[in-house]
Amino acid sequence: MFQALLNALGSRNTTTEDAAYDDSLEEQPDDDIVRVTTRNVRRRDPSPEEEARRPTQWVAWRISHAHKHRCREWVAARFPDCTLEQNAKDALLFSASDAAAVVAALAKDEHAARHVHACAAHGGSTARLEDVPGLAEAAYDAAAATAARLRVRGAPGLKEALLKNLPERIQLTPRGASHELVVDAVPATHATYYYVGCAPLAETFVPSTGDAGDVCRAVHKLREAMVRFALPPFRRVVDVGAAPGGWSQVCLEHGAELVVAVDPADLDADVAARVVHVKKRLEDAETLAALREAGGRFDAVLCDANAHPAKMGRALHALRPYLAAGATLVLTLKQPSASTKTAAADTGEVEGALAAGGFRDLRTAWLWANGRKERTLAATYT
Ligand SMILES: C[S@@+](CC[C@H](N)C(=O)[O-])C[C@H]1O[C@@H](n2cnc3c(N)ncnc32)[C@H](O)[C@@H]1O
Repeated sequence: MFQALLNALGSRNTTTEDAAYDDSLEEQPDDDIVRVTTRNVRRRDPSPEEEARRPTQWVAWRISHAHKHRCREWVAARFPDCTLEQNAKDALLFSASDAAAVVAALAKDEHAARHVHACAAHGGSTARLEDVPGLAEAAYDAAAATAARLRVRGAPGLKEALLKNLPERIQLTPRGASHELVVDAVPATHATYYYVGCAPLAETFVPSTGDAGDVCRAVHKLREAMVRFALPPFRRVVDVGAAPGGWSQVCLEHGAELVVAVDPADLDADVAARVVHVKKRLEDAETLAALREAGGRFDAVLCDANAHPAKMGRALHALRPYLAAGATLVLTLKQPSASTKTAAADTGEVEGALAAGGFRDLRTAWLWANGRKERTLAATYT
């Protein structure tokens, strides 16, 4: 019954005898699962050790390519026993000792959660190619026994071949599906396994949407930085590059007494009514005069200006006379260069300039809320 599927997949996998698995799949944004498997995995039978370590619990993420690196960091920091088993287009698959705990932790982390399309704990198993159809059928029957309605997801080539060959009694895309059957290729170290897992859709984590009340999406960068860097509360704040006012809004929400918003652009009217708006650039002489007039002693300087980070790093030096000892700095590093090397050099230059200017405890992170070419730096002024 499944001969066509076996032929199709079997022939794909024997074409790349010499290719070795390349763990830098992050660099290959357009690979789908079958191509990753074909290009990077030498097809051979799993060894007894590989057979022995076949996991039974899995976490399947649907996530944009741009966020995959941050997802891997997040998982590694919290669940070191999780192993990345598959890195496909817009999907990551980890084996885990407690898959439900991973999904529960994600649901509690609002900053990570809002960037994930879906995350599910699966009971599943890996199989050799020839066992895939049998496993898919068994998973379907197990779900059908509880009156479940199953839909099938998988790598395009694999899924289509599988769909064509499943028995007619199996409904593949029923209305109101209750379970999702996932069929993926899993390139374990040099052998190819196929993963077949089933998850109830009701237990699949899907983030709620809606930013009602927020001035703009930039608010999430500051909210996440506050948690990630465990920042103390701010009372007197200079917000550089403040327009339209998201970061100022967050400071006010957290009880700031004074926010001086520095930006030549307009602020949201509600925010403007609650802050001192200096409608100038940071480098303009009037800005420093306004800070002096406001009484100085700021305990936080925030900068999300869309300007070259080295330039902003230098410009921030001018603020030092108005900062209290122990003041917090949060700076978005906008990295205009497409080259990772140049971006790293830029970041190093800013960090050096800040350290020379008396900023200590410098920490830089790629927050979930950062764009692809952004990082966020936190430091303390001493
Ligand atoms: C990404 S927006 C900031 C968003 C803001 N953090 C928020 O939450 O609404 C960047 C802002 O930086 C401002 N900007 C760029 N260069 C600046 C400078 N030298 N001084 C002050 N503001 C600057 C721009 O006018 C722009 O409004």
